[in-house]
Amino acid sequence: MFDKVEEYKAMIKSAEAKVADDLEQFRMKFISKKSVVTELFNDFRNVPNDQKKAFGQALNELKTLAQDKFKSLADSLDHSSNESTSKGIDLTLPDVPNENGSVHPLTTTRNKIIEIFERMGFNVASGPEIEEDFYNFTALNFPENHPAREMQDTFFIEKNPDKVLRTHTSNVQIRMMEGGQPPFRSIMPGRVYRNEAISARAHCFFHQVEGLYVDKNVGFKDLKQTLYHFAKEMFGENTKIRLRPSYFPFTEPSAEIDISCFICQGKGCNVCKYTKWVEIAGSGMVDPNVLANCGIDPEEYTGFAFGMGIERIAMLKYQINDLRLFSENDVRFLRQFQGTF
Ligand code: DAH
Repeated sequence: MFDKVEEYKAMIKSAEAKVADDLEQFRMKFISKKSVVTELFNDFRNVPNDQKKAFGQALNELKTLAQDKFKSLADSLDHSSNESTSKGIDLTLPDVPNENGSVHPLTTTRNKIIEIFERMGFNVASGPEIEEDFYNFTALNFPENHPAREMQDTFFIEKNPDKVLRTHTSNVQIRMMEGGQPPFRSIMPGRVYRNEAISARAHCFFHQVEGLYVDKNVGFKDLKQTLYHFAKEMFGENTKIRLRPSYFPFTEPSAEIDISCFICQGKGCNVCKYTKWVEIAGSGMVDPNVLANCGIDPEEYTGFAFGMGIERIAMLKYQINDLRLFSENDVRFLRQFQGTF
């Protein structure tokens, strides 16, 4: 009997619990009602009287030993299971970077343009990208077979020769004006298409913002002041503008708008190609023929219009030198605009 007690004591002392199941085995064997310890207690009555006291003491020690061991095994198992879950997380590793997306630079630029003109009282309008020849050309004073149509290489819709992918956003001017009477004061952002070979400086699609202001007594000074204000808001307070005479069928007179190069501040650099000026828009007074084509009396109303390329403005603003970058979706390019709005 005493041998058994010693044997169990040794087993208890050397017991280990690596997983919860080991602990349960231990409990069954040494703690539960069916444990070997209980069995020994049951044998107590068979112990000769003179040994009862010593055996009782030995049994109590065994029981306490088993209970203490059970507690410490349970504790260490708890501990090690914590350790094993924390093994998956190495707190010394660098943080996983926050993969926020970024707003596309063309969207940022378009929003900024809209914001500036909205503050001057322009609202935003849009029109179709697949457009009838009439809205893209004829109503804008491009007579049929007129060489001015060659200014813009056009994608025609094969099955319907009257339809084109619009070559500019000027089509929206016509759609606006034919639907009502002045005043009109709108900007019209949108995508346009040209049949051009893709290169760093040209693409088969790009984006423009058209502007139109038609009312009584709108003059060239209004055009100039509006675009001067825009240029300062977009490129900085010190920006100057220059108007160069130009030709568009839908405006008379017409002017190209240049801004003073905000990169070299007039010293000459490769952005302005050492001319100190960079072109940002085409513009002019709406040709009386265009107003008449839309049912507006050119004797009563006058207006100005302008059109600018969003890519061009973004390229200047962010010094991007290849038009293709805007549509390639290379995240290395796009990530550089994180944080711009
Ligand atoms: N539609 C012209 C183009 O795509 C840009 C333009 C020039 C728009 C003068 C206008 C304007 O409204 O008045 O090149």
